[in-house]
Amino acid sequence: MKWAMFLRFFQIQPRDKGNKAGINTSLFPVKLKTFVELNMDVASASPRRYFFEVMSFFASAEHEKERLQYFASPEGRDDLYQYNQKERRTVLEVLEDFPSVQMPFEWLVQLVPPLKTRAFSISSCHSAHQNQVHLTVSVVMWKTPYKRKRSGLCSSWLASIDPQQNVLVAVWFKKGSLPPPPPSLPLILIGPGTGCAPFRGFVEERALQNESDPTAPMIFCFGCRNKDNDFLYQDFWMKHSQNGGVLSEDKGGGFYAAFSRDQPQKVYVQHKIKEQSTKIWSLLSQGASVYIAGSSNKMPSDVLSAFEDIVSAESGVSKEVASRWIRALEKAGKYYVEAWS
Ligand SMILES: Cc1cc2nc3c(=O)[nH]c(=O)nc-3n(C[C@H](O)[C@H](O)[C@H](O)COP(=O)(O)OP(=O)(O)OC[C@H]3O[C@@H](n4cnc5c(N)ncnc54)[C@H](O)[C@@H]3O)c2cc1C
Ligand SMILES: NC(=O)c1ccc[n+]([C@@H]2O[C@H](COP(=O)([O-])OP(=O)(O)OC[C@H]3O[C@@H](n4cnc5c(N)ncnc54)[C@H](OP(=O)(O)O)[C@@H]3O)[C@@H](O)[C@H]2O)c1
Repeated sequence: MKWAMFLRFFQIQPRDKGNKAGINTSLFPVKLKTFVELNMDVASASPRRYFFEVMSFFASAEHEKERLQYFASPEGRDDLYQYNQKERRTVLEVLEDFPSVQMPFEWLVQLVPPLKTRAFSISSCHSAHQNQVHLTVSVVMWKTPYKRKRSGLCSSWLASIDPQQNVLVAVWFKKGSLPPPPPSLPLILIGPGTGCAPFRGFVEERALQNESDPTAPMIFCFGCRNKDNDFLYQDFWMKHSQNGGVLSEDKGGGFYAAFSRDQPQKVYVQHKIKEQSTKIWSLLSQGASVYIAGSSNKMPSDVLSAFEDIVSAESGVSKEVASRWIRALEKAGKYYVEAWS
């Protein structure tokens, strides 16, 4: 960017002079507030070590300067990690903790982490909701080691929007890593928590296709904490798993839910697929594809391990052979994982 600051407006210009896309590269004014809101992550990402070094130059209080220099030094590395990254301190919080620092905007603009875009799976099917895109967003919340409450920037902001007000949300569409399955393909879908998002669209699509031609069986394993609190789209899954619906056992599929915190021991999606071992193996033998979506913690590897157990138990081969079989499935484009943290 090229900068010419005047009053509370900037003029900005893309740095790339190539301009192959034919974008208008002339200078245009942007309000300072808008620029910061749309580009600079002051309220969620933690600053880097160099930010502390630069802050120390602009600190006028001696004790703050010393502390910042210590944080920026090799000896202060561990303390900086505890104070900054582990506590997920934001740029704003750090600046508030060192009030004598008067960092010029030209420096801030270069050092503040850029605001990242957030991806969300589309949880509706286009044929069922034309001109609409549904998202399933969990408001991210956690406590830091010092028990400070933190919440996710984008998910909290989305949750704060008043649907009655016409708030414009800037969005981009990007092809996901889960290809849309043809109606004749048997499916095994695993989606705990917000991982159910893409599969709501799949089920809607299949329900429409099934109105004209019978579709292949479909199993969906959903997981959440409590049946009464976060059983997302409960009525929707129930509707499609009854009366010959696309998720029904009558059609060779099924809907299975794991509630992890409704009993003393954890029950997860992998426990549910193991309970359906015979059916899963039968679908895999018919050429089913496996789709897994949701949290990227241990879930994808635990689910993979459950599939290996199923293949091993049902076909009587060792776990190593079963593991190779699943890897071959993956190579053949029949085992997909879309996971996020
Ligand atoms: C392909 C793809 C599809 C996605 N689909 C969906 C979807 O359908 N629905 C959905 O809700 N999300 C989805 N996500 C995740 C989404 O993009 C965001 O990451 C999520 O909403 C959090 O963004 P945020 O701005 O609210 O949180 P941020 O401000 O980005 O904070 C999240 C970060 O906080 C930290 N954090 C979170 N919890 C903890 C904890 N317990 N302890 C320590 N640190 C923690 C982690 O560093 C985490 O990356 C998807 C992501 C990808 C890549
Ligand atoms: N879902 C909620 O009620 C809720 C509420 C507030 C905030 N949030 C926030 O939203 C974020 C995303 O939430 P989410 O709904 O997508 O997911 P999530 O609630 O974190 O997880 C969905 C389900 O997956 C389970 N799970 C945990 N580890 C697993 C593993 N190794 N294998 C299989 N299943 C596993 C969870 O059980 P356990 O968690 O019991 O282990 C839970 O039942 C969370 O990180 C949280 O910060 C969620």
